[in-house]
Amino acid sequence: MPDRQPSLLEDYDTYPRIEEAFQAALDESLNPRGPELLYEMVASLRLPQGAAVLDLGCGEGKQSIELADRFGFRVLGVDPVRRQVGLADGKLREAWRPNRRLNALVHFQLGVAEALPLTDATVDLVWCREVLVLIEALDAAFAECRRVLRPGGCMLIYQNFPTDRLEPREAELLGANGRFQVERMEAAFTEAGFAVVASLELGSEVGEYIEERTGEAGRRLIHAARLLRAPERYIEQFGPVAYDIMLGDRLWHVCRMIGKLSGRVYLLRASD
Ligand SMILES: C[S@@+](CC[C@H](N)C(=O)[O-])C[C@H]1O[C@@H](n2cnc3c(N)ncnc32)[C@H](O)[C@@H]1O
Repeated sequence: MPDRQPSLLEDYDTYPRIEEAFQAALDESLNPRGPELLYEMVASLRLPQGAAVLDLGCGEGKQSIELADRFGFRVLGVDPVRRQVGLADGKLREAWRPNRRLNALVHFQLGVAEALPLTDATVDLVWCREVLVLIEALDAAFAECRRVLRPGGCMLIYQNFPTDRLEPREAELLGANGRFQVERMEAAFTEAGFAVVASLELGSEVGEYIEERTGEAGRRLIHAARLLRAPERYIEQFGPVAYDIMLGDRLWHVCRMIGKLSGRVYLLRASD
């Protein structure tokens, strides 16, 4: 990035001559990679139909169902929040109406990463998207993933990490998301016996991809502006805890778009 200050001439003479063309160039997509990349990485593993997959921190189960539908995997989605597991079950019922095969392939269960409800060496792939930041005992979580994987099994992680553009005050507003350190995660999975097969820095790509298709990042930006300008309005209606959660979430999306958070994918292999 240039550290030179523009001169008056550049500000009011040179730059205005190219401004429109510059803007037009910026209106062109840089063809960001989106969530599909994760499925492409799974496809590259060439696991057979019926392979056992753990969707760790499955949330509402969307990706568990997708993995079973695309690849014919047997998927167990695990999440500690009862409501999430209930919603995931509901999604599955909706999904399998036209495709009953999914009902046999996908199951959801309450559980935590630190004590997985699975026996040793029974899983071919652990899929883990945007969960690790919420886990205090990372070492225990990776040890558990290693335990349940068959030797040579893989773990696919997608996670956003703070960059050095994130200011301490912003990190505070983002809570755990603002403090999660890439080095800490790498040390934990190395200690547990994982080797990195591939790692990709995605920066803002997934955010750009979603914005280009849905306008969702722009919507979150205006939400953040309203939350910051009129906190009382929302605190009065929804309470301070909900306000903080909502603000953290909206800022998370803004930070991801402007290089204060950066998405990364890791494909790990469990040592034999
Ligand atoms: C941001 S959501 C991501 C959900 C899903 N993986 C996705 O990408 O849509 C994080 C999920 O991690 C779950 N979670 C939190 N702590 C966990 C833990 N210790 N073990 C497993 N899952 C956990 C939460 O309940 C939540 O559903």
